[in-house]
Amino acid sequence: MPSVLSDPTQPRAAGNRPEQGDTAVREIESVNATEQLRRAFGCFPSGVTALCARRGGHPLGLAASSFTSVSMDPPLVSVCVQHTSTTWPKLRALPRLGVSVLAEGQDEICGRLASRSGDRFAGVDWCASASGGVFVEGATLWLDCTVREEVTCGDHNIVLLQVHGLSAAPDTAPLVFHGSKYRRLASL
Ligand SMILES: Cc1cc2nc3c(=O)[nH]c(=O)nc-3n(C[C@H](O)[C@H](O)[C@H](O)COP(=O)(O)O)c2cc1C
Repeated sequence: MPSVLSDPTQPRAAGNRPEQGDTAVREIESVNATEQLRRAFGCFPSGVTALCARRGGHPLGLAASSFTSVSMDPPLVSVCVQHTSTTWPKLRALPRLGVSVLAEGQDEICGRLASRSGDRFAGVDWCASASGGVFVEGATLWLDCTVREEVTCGDHNIVLLQVHGLSAAPDTAPLVFHGSKYRRLASL
């Protein structure tokens, strides 16, 4: 059997193609499924968003790379939030949610907004809309949203957010997350 088939989590060598009718696809092994899936899903590059709102005068938020645009009419976006999140149940109860698409160089802010200890907003410049959405200064996009619907899927909820207002800076390069690393877009 060609070595390309031996481990589906290892990179495939260029030009080393499996026989027709056979592929390098293997059933997910239950022993290390989480690690296999983390590496697999990490092949898909994404941006990173900050989901934040004001609660009792203080900002509250988390980092999420699962952001996707969904619909133009009505304007909808989605994020997937893990059931173990302790911040999401507080955020979802608030009237408005700010979504900031983080910019290149904001990797430290991202790490802070995902941290499990300390003040997530220490050293983070932010502002809030009158309705309570919190936005990270310097981000490439701000969306002022409400939660429209949540669908439970496996160990996450797909959260549909309705967009009510926006501020876009398309010339500001985004932060890129790929293979568990922060990266930057190359200019061609
Ligand atoms: C780059 C990055 C992307 C993340 N994306 C998500 C995501 O899409 N969904 C999610 O639920 N958590 C995501 N997290 C984890 C959360 O930011 C946060 O750490 C987690 O919700 C635990 O904190 P909490 O208990 O305060 O919610 C991400 C973390 C990092 C560093």
